[in-house]
Amino acid sequence: MTSTQPPADDEFATLLEAAREIAERAYTPYSRYRVGAAAVTEDGRLVRGCNVENAGYGVTLCAECGLISELIAGGGGKLERFVCVGGDEHLAREERQVVMPCGRCRQLLSEHAGTGLVILTPEGRRSMDEVLPQPFGPADLAP
Ligand code: THU
Repeated sequence: MTSTQPPADDEFATLLEAAREIAERAYTPYSRYRVGAAAVTEDGRLVRGCNVENAGYGVTLCAECGLISELIAGGGGKLERFVCVGGDEHLAREERQVVMPCGRCRQLLSEHAGTGLVILTPEGRRSMDEVLPQPFGPADLAP
């Protein structure tokens, strides 16, 4: 574990475990980089996702896409805690480290973030606003 990794406190220990578990199922024949994302909703559901690559590289689905799909398919709601882990396919499951969601995925998360969403990042806990300041959101579409 590198020094930039946050402590796996009790609150995030279960989510980290879930993210590392789902990362094992990632489909990554091109980048060989596995990502697992896990979140808990305000009503206590666990939702997860892993990255799914494609021969058309730009078609690749980030792990967060799967997680948001599961959120909506499972009844919707808002996210309360979120973490994603990533790393080379050869890493052992427990070696996969906390990574930041990419920019596009921060936008995806923003749409479904609860007001108290906490994101575990390599630098510790952050709010949605800290990882995506001044987001474009539903209010921007209002006439
Ligand atoms: N990836 C994710 O799944 N989520 C992110 O937030 C960052 C990047 C995936 C996409 C691709 O399969 C691999 O990581 C390398 O970019």
